[in-house]
Amino acid sequence: MTDTTRSRSSVTMTVNGTEQQLDIDNRVTLLDALREHLKLTGTKKGCDHGQCGACTVMVNGRRVNSCLSLAVMHQGDEVTTVEGLGSPEDLHPMQAAFIEHDGYQCGYCTPGQICSAKSVLEEIRAGIPSHVTRDLANVVMNDDELRERMSGNICRCGAYANILAAMKQVAEETA
Ligand code: FES
Ligand code: FES
Repeated sequence: MTDTTRSRSSVTMTVNGTEQQLDIDNRVTLLDALREHLKLTGTKKGCDHGQCGACTVMVNGRRVNSCLSLAVMHQGDEVTTVEGLGSPEDLHPMQAAFIEHDGYQCGYCTPGQICSAKSVLEEIRAGIPSHVTRDLANVVMNDDELRERMSGNICRCGAYANILAAMKQVAEETA
């Protein structure tokens, strides 16, 4: 419950399949709740201003920049972070493809890239158009669509070509 007359709130959300109850300051972002309160440090803080995509997680199946969202807004929501996609012993196909194609150098942007990459394939398959979609009735998987939809995820190491290769491999494998 969020009590706007108080500075703290209790919020319950499911994170990577586990219900979590938090008693937090109303100003805490979802990103800080994940990292500082739940110790899920896979999700990264790059800019803290919605400009880099390092903090991308999935909420109820849709990707969000967790630095732009207050934790108290997520009562009852299902949150998935990069830790919830796979484990070192059982990688998600997108995680495995990033390794296979060297989709990173320093790795700081990588959790956000992987969460976005997974979501992008789902968005295209769901027929959700982007800025570069030519035919709104027929959203197709192509390089332009993948690049446009990943444009909110910045990689200062410049691993873009390899990230694209990883995404195309997963798209083909799961077609
Ligand atoms: S840390 Fe959220 S977009 Fe950069
Ligand atoms: S791998 Fe270094 S910022 Fe992307």
